[in-house]
Amino acid sequence: MCKATKDTLILGIESSCDDTSVAILKNGKILANITAGQKVHEEYGGVVPELASRAHQQNLIPVVRAALKKSGITLHELSAIAYTRGPGLLGSLLVGSSFAKGLSIALGVPLLEVHHMKAHILAHFIKETEEQEVPHFPFLCLTVSGGHTQLVKVNDYLSMEILGQTIDDAAGEAFDKAAKILGLPYPGGPLIDLYSQKGDPHRFAFSMPKIEGLNYSFSGLKTQFLYFVQAEVEKEPGFVEKNLPDICASYQEAIVNFLMAKLKRAAREHHLTDIAVAGGVSANSVLRKKLQKLGAENNWRTFIPALEYCTDNAAMIAMTGYFQYVQNDFGNLKNAPLSRWNMEV
Ligand code: KG4
Ligand code: ZN
Repeated sequence: MCKATKDTLILGIESSCDDTSVAILKNGKILANITAGQKVHEEYGGVVPELASRAHQQNLIPVVRAALKKSGITLHELSAIAYTRGPGLLGSLLVGSSFAKGLSIALGVPLLEVHHMKAHILAHFIKETEEQEVPHFPFLCLTVSGGHTQLVKVNDYLSMEILGQTIDDAAGEAFDKAAKILGLPYPGGPLIDLYSQKGDPHRFAFSMPKIEGLNYSFSGLKTQFLYFVQAEVEKEPGFVEKNLPDICASYQEAIVNFLMAKLKRAAREHHLTDIAVAGGVSANSVLRKKLQKLGAENNWRTFIPALEYCTDNAAMIAMTGYFQYVQNDFGNLKNAPLSRWNMEV
C-alpha cells in the first residue's frame, strides 16, 4: 500500500473500563471522538466488570455509527482498525477486540493493537490547532488514572520506560475510595475536585506517604482518611455534611502534593525538562495549576491535555494506532486482549 498518496483513515475503539469510545482519525487529525459513559456503576462505588461488558455491547454499534456520521466517512474508506488490547477489564476489552477483529475481517483492513497507558501519553500529540506545541523526546509523563500511577520516560512514540509507579492503589482509586467513604457516587474524583473549589486545603492535615525512590503508594493515605472520617463522625455525626469542601480540599491537596513531589524528583534525577501529565486524574484542576506553577519555577515546558483527552477516549487510541500504522506495527487476529500488559516491551 502506498501511504504517501492515500489518506490514512483510522477507526479507534476504546473499551478497557467503563467508557465506550470511538474515534476517526484522518492523516493524524481527529474527525470524530464520541464517548458513551456508563451511569450503571454510580451506586456501587466502583466499576462492576460484568455490567461494564454488557453496557459496552449495547453502546458500541451506536457509538461507531455516531462517529462515522460526525466524520462524514464510510466504513469502506478506512485504512485500519485500532483497538485497546489492554490493560483493563478482560470482559470489557473482549467486547472491543471482538468487534475490531470482525470489522477488520469484513473490510479487509489491518488491526492495530494499542496499549491503553501508552495511548494516554500519546494523547499529547493530538493537535487541536496547527500552532499547538507538542513535547520533545525524551520527555517525562506522570500518568494518573483509575488503575495506574506511573512516572514514564518517553523516549519515542512507541518506546517508553517506567521510572516509578504505585506499589498499591492508583491515584484515581485514592480519590474514588475517599469519595465512597464520604457517600459520594462513582467516579468520585471529579466530585472531590468540584467540592474542593470552595474548601480550605490547609484545614485538615494528612501525612505524606513515605516510600522509597520514585514509587508511589496510596493505600495508607486512603486508610488515614477513613480513620480520620470515622473518628470525626463519632465526635460529631454531621461532620461530613458540615465540612465537605474542607475535607475534599485537604485530601486532594495531600494527593496532588505527593504526585508533584515525586514528579519533581524524577525530572531532576533524569534531567528532563519537557514534563507532561496524562490520564483521568490529570483533569484535576489543582493538579493542573500546580504543574504549571512547578513548570514556571523550574523552567520546564509543561504539557496538560485538553479535558476531552484526559479521561478515557478513543482519540488517543486512534492516534497511537496511527503511529503504529506508519511503523508497520500491525496486529494479529489470533492475539487475545490482555488485562495486564507491560508497556516497556
Ligand atoms: O483514565 P481514566 O478515565 O480511566 C482509567 O484508565 O482508569 O481515569 C479515571 C479516573 C477515576 O479514578 C476518576 O475519579 C479520575 O480519573 N478523575 C479525577 C478527575 N476526573 C477524573 N480525579 C480527580 N479529579 C478530577 N477532576
Ligand atoms: Zn485510562
